Amino acid sequence: MEIIIQPTVADAQQEAANILRRQIRDKPASVLGLATGSTPIGVYALLVAMHRRGELDFSRVSTFNLDEYVGLPPDHPCSYREFMRQHLFSHVNIASDRIHFPNGLAADIPAHCEEYEAAIARAGGIDLQLLGIGREGHIGFNEPSSSLASRTRIKTLTPQTLKDNADCFGGPDKVPHHVITMGVGTIMDARQCLLLATGEAKASVVAGMVEGPITADLPASILQLHPVCRLVIDEAAAAKLRRADYYRWVYANKPGWQRS
Ligand code: F6R
Repeated sequence: MEIIIQPTVADAQQEAANILRRQIRDKPASVLGLATGSTPIGVYALLVAMHRRGELDFSRVSTFNLDEYVGLPPDHPCSYREFMRQHLFSHVNIASDRIHFPNGLAADIPAHCEEYEAAIARAGGIDLQLLGIGREGHIGFNEPSSSLASRTRIKTLTPQTLKDNADCFGGPDKVPHHVITMGVGTIMDARQCLLLATGEAKASVVAGMVEGPITADLPASILQLHPVCRLVIDEAAAAKLRRADYYRWVYANKPGWQRS
């Protein structure tokens, strides 16, 4: 895993946006896995700005979002489809038929989850998966105890995640308890992963993910086994890493041709 520590949240967002820009420029028909939540909002704003400056063309890009709430229609103000429309899709030249989400209203959820996996495979697999991390270590909504081999399926959110996601709904009791999420195995199949984490509230879980054991108790720890995974964090999220100095040193010595 490459650990990139940036001084501020803004620097971390810029680094993540640069990695995505490089991916799309190197492969204009990239298949991107995308995340929602508060962490990537600034990254999406930077991608929109790059697009407006003529630096990024989304016309051949395809996207698969990690997750969606069960029971919410796509145009619900708190749905993840609506989140992505607001923060990215309505501002760039992406084709609507290349945008994919789990359907929170699917009548047959297991069949729909199988179809979501099949759609990813038909698109050629995910080239770059953008991730955030939950305070208890989830990626997507693979909460602690999720099988590290899991595929897209329904999951029940933890009380902590309900609290963390309460803002849009006006309280934790109003957040849907179920989501459809890509599995840990689905995420691990992406050719590259890019996890962005910022702020001191993420410092403990980031340290566990990078320097702790690989365990279903902290699903993001499986990324230690991913062949091409970058973790981009700010100083606050890096505060509990034992080897932070070494990670900084590696990054400072990174060959120019490897930079985004
Ligand atoms: C969202 C997702 C989640 C979030 C995580 C962090 O699509 O899959 O794993 O990335 O809950 O959320 P924030 O960024 O709000 O702290």
